[in-house]
Amino acid sequence: MLHLLLIAAATLLLSFSEAAPTSQRTRCDVSKVPVPLPSNQDQLQIAAGTVAQYIALGVGVQNYTCGSAGSYTSSGAVAELFDISCFAVKDTSTFETMTDDSYQMFNRTNVSATKLITMMAASESVLGQHVFVTNPVTGTGISPQFDFRSASRKDDPNAYVIASKVGNIAAPTGKQDVDWLSLMNARGSLSTQILRLNTRGGQPPSHCQEGSTISVKYTAQYWFYG
Ligand SMILES: *[C@@H]1O[C@H](CO)[C@@H](O)[C@H](O)[C@H]1NC(C)=O
Ligand SMILES: *[C@@H]1O[C@H](CO)[C@@H](O)[C@H](O)[C@H]1NC(C)=O
Ligand SMILES: *[C@@H]1O[C@H](CO)[C@@H](O)[C@H](O)[C@H]1NC(C)=O
Repeated sequence: MLHLLLIAAATLLLSFSEAAPTSQRTRCDVSKVPVPLPSNQDQLQIAAGTVAQYIALGVGVQNYTCGSAGSYTSSGAVAELFDISCFAVKDTSTFETMTDDSYQMFNRTNVSATKLITMMAASESVLGQHVFVTNPVTGTGISPQFDFRSASRKDDPNAYVIASKVGNIAAPTGKQDVDWLSLMNARGSLSTQILRLNTRGGQPPSHCQEGSTISVKYTAQYWFYG
């Protein structure tokens, strides 16, 4: 059973890869794709003079640790980043449902985020990974990293971003989905800004036992600007 589900997940994700043009390394121009930002907010704004360079589908987990108040706080994440730029340009109906479809499929399986990354290691559709690293500015705490050096940009030692959060809004789709975020570059030269949008899942239970940890599956779109 587990094996069948693993195969189903891999098939779904591979079908995304195969549907994508083989020229996707040279990329589809997403600079004119309308970004789905809600109008009634000022937390998520695109920096002047920048345009979207890549749109990625993130598939992974949000990690949490339970504090003394009996509630979870974020302790990082790990996700695979698939290039969905060409869908945004050439197949908008697939683009619009893919975050949800991949969430449903991923949530239904026992495939972990790290297993998914291993399974997809040879796929042309992978841009890179999202992980957390020590905050490079303060030297304490953790910061989100987006790293293309393992996959689509092996040639470029600076093809990563370590970011800091500058804005967030509750997901317009409901409290089961993690916040939409604006992240600005603190290190690396991959992009100047990254937006996390169209999130699915990833929220922890509201109560917990102090010291316990949990990984909650999620998917999201990450829009990379530069
Ligand atoms: C997933 O794994 C857990 C144990 O790790 C098992 O109890 C459960 O049946 C598995 N679910 C599926 C759908 O294989
Ligand atoms: C998040 O949890 C997963 C296991 O579910 C682990 O592989 C990963 O290293 C963790 N990452 C962080 C930053 O805590
Ligand atoms: C995700 O899967 C769990 C079971 O593993 C289920 O309880 C939950 O309802 C699922 N979430 C969604 C949004 O489908």
